[in-house]
Amino acid sequence: MSFTQEYQLIDNPSIVKKPPQLKKQKIIKYSLLVLTIVSLGIASFSILKKENEILVEEKIIIKDNEGEKILIKAKPRLDKYGVDLNVNVLDGIYTMGFNNDVEAKVEDWKLYTPPCPYLQPVKHADNDINPVCEKSSLQIANFEKNNGKDLPYVMPLNTISNQLEKWKEWEKKNETILYGNQSVKELVENKYHPFDYGYTGENTENITDKKYYNNVINSRMDEVPDPRRRRLFSFILFNAEYDLLDLYLSEYYDIIDYFVIYESNTTFSGNPKPLYFTRTLLETDRYDKFKDKLIPLPVKIIVDEDNGRGKGFPKEHLARRTVIEKGLRSVHARHGDLFMHGDLDEMPKAHVLSRLKKCGGWEHLQAGIGGGPKSFKNGNVDSYFINPNMNVTVNGKGEYNVDYSRNYSISFLSWFHEYSFNIIQNSKVGTVAHPNLSIFDARRSLGQLNERKNYNKRDSVSSYSDPLLDPNFDIYQGYTYTDNTNDLKKGKGYIGEYLRFDTSKVPELKGKKKATIWNSGWHLSSFLPTIDQFYNKISSYSHFQSYGKKSEETIKKDIINRIKNHQYIYGSKKKYNSVNSTFPLSYENGYEYNFNYDYWNERITSKNNDIGFKKYINDMKREIPTQVWKHPICYSFMIDRDYGIDKKLWWQVIPKEDWKTVKFEELDSEIIDQLVSPNYPESLKKQMLKYLNI
Ligand SMILES: *[C@@H]1O[C@H](CO)[C@@H](O)[C@H](O)[C@H]1NC(C)=O
Ligand SMILES: *[C@@H]1O[C@H](CO)[C@@H](O)[C@H](O)[C@H]1NC(C)=O
Ligand SMILES: *[C@@H]1O[C@H](CO)[C@@H](O)[C@H](O)[C@H]1NC(C)=O
Ligand SMILES: *[C@@H]1O[C@H](CO)[C@@H](O)[C@H](O)[C@H]1NC(C)=O
Ligand SMILES: *[C@@H]1O[C@H](CO)[C@@H](O)[C@H](O)[C@H]1NC(C)=O
Ligand SMILES: *[C@@H]1O[C@H](CO)[C@@H](O)[C@H](O)[C@H]1NC(C)=O
Ligand SMILES: *[C@@H]1O[C@H](CO)[C@@H](O)[C@H](O)[C@H]1NC(C)=O
Ligand SMILES: *[C@@H]1O[C@H](CO)[C@@H](O)[C@H](O)[C@H]1NC(C)=O
Repeated sequence: MSFTQEYQLIDNPSIVKKPPQLKKQKIIKYSLLVLTIVSLGIASFSILKKENEILVEEKIIIKDNEGEKILIKAKPRLDKYGVDLNVNVLDGIYTMGFNNDVEAKVEDWKLYTPPCPYLQPVKHADNDINPVCEKSSLQIANFEKNNGKDLPYVMPLNTISNQLEKWKEWEKKNETILYGNQSVKELVENKYHPFDYGYTGENTENITDKKYYNNVINSRMDEVPDPRRRRLFSFILFNAEYDLLDLYLSEYYDIIDYFVIYESNTTFSGNPKPLYFTRTLLETDRYDKFKDKLIPLPVKIIVDEDNGRGKGFPKEHLARRTVIEKGLRSVHARHGDLFMHGDLDEMPKAHVLSRLKKCGGWEHLQAGIGGGPKSFKNGNVDSYFINPNMNVTVNGKGEYNVDYSRNYSISFLSWFHEYSFNIIQNSKVGTVAHPNLSIFDARRSLGQLNERKNYNKRDSVSSYSDPLLDPNFDIYQGYTYTDNTNDLKKGKGYIGEYLRFDTSKVPELKGKKKATIWNSGWHLSSFLPTIDQFYNKISSYSHFQSYGKKSEETIKKDIINRIKNHQYIYGSKKKYNSVNSTFPLSYENGYEYNFNYDYWNERITSKNNDIGFKKYINDMKREIPTQVWKHPICYSFMIDRDYGIDKKLWWQVIPKEDWKTVKFEELDSEIIDQLVSPNYPESLKKQMLKYLNI
């Protein structure tokens, strides 16, 4: 059998529907028209990059009432599968220059911090990246005991191939399962939890990635790709946190397929701002090692309303909605792909992400019984976006009343750190449940009713037309909201920001029967290198109002005092706890994990006081991201904040012209001692210097 028939991908060129072009940003065009152009000095030029690579197509400088602006417009940049990574920059977008100077380069920006000279994708241990799924497990917070502070539940994982077999067996039994009503304890029991990936094809293991993913991104939305090769996307918001983004990209490059990075040309408090990420990506080599997975999403914010908590939050809500919808479109999401949405400073642990991506057996926690889209070609399925006779109603906010899943997402129970890893809100239990992770559902996207509801079984409705033959049918309509001009929820559809909300109240997760992945991430709140960065952050975020109308000087003093006293950065000066991170013993091997199901299950169920296990758990709670412990010179301020405020950081000691070429291992040991936090273990430091020297 030929590949195309076997995997149900595009088997008839006449009905191939090209993924729709992203809707042109109408609003942007509109506002260009009304722009009062005082003088128009066009300086169109291409930036020649090394290896003759040209990413920025044109830069046009205009002058209007608000001052000088620069248009950033890129050329298409196709990756090896055919995804256009520049899809969101093709129309061009205006932005102010760095330091308000349209000629300035990003390195000239007064808050610019250079990348660590050793910045590159982290090589995670093979065990972590390719887990042995049959024996592996997932830890889920147990809120029944001591508010989640005790040991978690342990849930067995399995290979997706085995899960596909089990589903076939289960389906023959003609039983019903109602996940919607199950408690977390039931959901994680050691037994088969039926889940339908919707995939009926063969194992695609012998098809090359290039060929396989090229077919996936061009496939019809009602076809299901091989779940063993599902992709994982991250949709994040960026302001100007260069150091955090470096950390994020290096930690996940190996695991995440695409990063869609939202940034707007004004802050959430409404002030114009440069497009820091987009321009750095297109105009410098900072992201060259990551570029083939980076999709910039520069946007203009159009909401301007006060929801009672200020004007910032409505802007933030719409930003979240936008990055999810546009993110899914940019990556050509298909049924079963995974996506997460959070902020840049919300970092799930890499070993958890790999298990979720590569192993099966957890999906019902989010998607209930699952199931794939039905092929419109067979004519027995319909879309409620085009057939009003299906009588699908919407709730008060415009969400379709359809029961596709247990819920929109599951989340990572994360440790909330403020300023640095040595300061924590609560050292006993994670206190934020971010980011949220979701399985992309093509049925929702296409407006198909699911066959099995979590509460009931549903019959499908018969139909005659194939909407995928209609070039005007939007295959992402189900992940779109029809009115994004305001935060009043007057439209219809999917409200992306709900993927995240309702998460800060961790104690309520118990009552809501929400499965939350235990010890699975870090919230790196305000991990910023200098006081100017802090000021920049608080003045551009939704919380700014809480500082009142004080002078910059006074606010900076306030922040420094808070940092010194380990107090929360906003509002009342709540004091946080001090902790010590754990570091790996071996620089080369990193932390060593054991997620073997039996190992965990035996220790959780036995009353024996296994000291080794206790230590393992405690160490795991205080682990930190790889890039940080591997490069303590670059990230000293993240290891120990008291250090970072009073002492100089590496790029304040090393002259600018040496930033790219400096070799830390050749520095004087005195300088190294000054640059590495005293909390960093001596033995690891020795190993590091030796290692960097190789
Ligand atoms: C943001 O982008 C839009 C579209 O290019 C443009 O009309 C607007 O002037 C820009 N705003 C700022 C503050 O640069
Ligand atoms: C499955 O069960 C339903 C009742 O729950 C029954 O009506 C139906 O005939 C059964 N189907 C098969 C194939 O046994
Ligand atoms: C499950 O919960 C829903 C909503 O609370 C309720 O309507 C339904 O009766 C419950 N079903 C079962 C089988 O308990
Ligand atoms: C892939 O190729 C290997 C080696 O030729 C073969 O053993 C295996 O069965 C193939 N897998 C599938 C799903 O065809
Ligand atoms: C939709 O509602 C109409 C009017 O109440 C009814 O006649 C029709 O049968 C319903 N259609 C479906 C598919 O339930
Ligand atoms: C899922 O979320 C929706 C909206 O927040 C809520 O109404 C519903 O009860 C949730 N369902 C379950 C099973 O938790
Ligand atoms: C995101 O995850 C948290 C924690 O599990 C949960 O409370 C929240 O409802 C999730 N969001 C959605 C929409 O599922
Ligand atoms: C951190 O480690 C240092 C040195 O071992 C110790 O003195 C200090 O008490 C520890 N702090 C905490 C919060 O455990």
